[in-house]
Amino acid sequence: MSNRVYYISIISLLFLSACQSDLPVPADNRPYYPGIPSYAGKMPVPDDNKLTEARVRLGEFLFFDTRLSKDLSISCASCHDPAKAFSDQKRLSNGVDGKTGKRNAPTLFNTGFAPDLLWDGGSFSLEAQALVPIQNHREMGMRLDEIAARLEPDEEFAALARSAYGGERIEYVIIKALASYQRSLVSFDTRFDDYYYRGEESALNTEEKAGLELFFSEKTQCASCHTPPLFTNYSYRDNGLYNPYIDSGRGRITLAPEDLGKFKVPTLRNVALTFPYMHDGSLATLDEVLAHYNAGGKGSPNQSALIRPLKLSIEEQKMLISFLKTLSDKRYEK
Ligand code: HEC
Ligand code: HEC
Repeated sequence: MSNRVYYISIISLLFLSACQSDLPVPADNRPYYPGIPSYAGKMPVPDDNKLTEARVRLGEFLFFDTRLSKDLSISCASCHDPAKAFSDQKRLSNGVDGKTGKRNAPTLFNTGFAPDLLWDGGSFSLEAQALVPIQNHREMGMRLDEIAARLEPDEEFAALARSAYGGERIEYVIIKALASYQRSLVSFDTRFDDYYYRGEESALNTEEKAGLELFFSEKTQCASCHTPPLFTNYSYRDNGLYNPYIDSGRGRITLAPEDLGKFKVPTLRNVALTFPYMHDGSLATLDEVLAHYNAGGKGSPNQSALIRPLKLSIEEQKMLISFLKTLSDKRYEK
């Protein structure tokens, strides 16, 4: 589908959903609190889709439902697997009809904090974003009204939808519930957080602390783009991955030459689980990522000045990797 049709369908959907926003929230709809520590700030939630337990539950039901895909083979979780920190650990994802996508599937943890979504920022809300994989012929290959028709006769879905959204149209219920579930996916329970924010001196060992120092140092400047608490500043940067550009990145959205090859700085929380790395999944391991940064990038036209040869020893690269592993949620550290 062309971008134009895509944006028009999103805009009309948001407009219609705005018209419905004064529908009353069902009475048994208890608010849902995702457990965000105060240092992480507030997660923005739209007025017409307040977070409630029933909405998160319905979104979870849909997230794992293969009826959202054309051939009933794919759910959101196929590419965003909770056991893999909501990534798929594949270079590029497999969608319907055995088709392969063009970019690497990112984690969905803390995605509710992002001002815009996708590697190039082409989507501006979780509500609008859900349409992207649903309609993409390489991912789920469906239309929202086709999914609504499939779900309508399902009594379990109908009961969940009623308690979550009252009488709203099924199409809006689907995208709003998926967004609500994703806003519930937060991850701040790590050894790094224990050490850095909760003052638990023994949460990190000597090597991990040395890696932390390097990460925040003038020498590497990693933290100037991967800024805590979310380990991203949500800017668009070219970290010198390749030259010439294969994927125009942010330039696809803004059409500005200076945005070619720039991608949204990804979070590094749970990075030990979200291999392979970068928008194209071209770096298999954290060792390869460190080797890339140490070499100073490929010198592409829009490469950030912060990406330059770092002269890190092998030991220093190892320390940085040990530190990155402390950003894994404790639920994965067994
Ligand atoms: C076939 C694999 C696949 C399926 C199925 C899939 N996704 Fe994704 N998802 C991806 C890929 C690949 C990207 C990155 C695409 C890009 O940036 O161009 C992505 C990106 C996202 C993002 C943006 C995250 C960010 O931080 O920018 C969100 C949110 C998301 N997906 C939610 C969903 C939801 C909800 C569903 C189910 C309706 C879903 N995805 C189904 C592969 C998939
Ligand atoms: C100029 C900003 C900038 C600096 C400085 C920077 N990064 Fe990145 N980082 C990015 C961008 C942008 C990407 C995604 C690039 C892409 O996909 O093409 C990225 C991707 C990554 C990834 C892959 C994450 C994933 O999920 O795919 C890791 C790991 C990483 N950086 C670690 C580091 C480390 C360690 C340092 C310091 C040595 C560092 N970065 C310095 C901007 C930066």
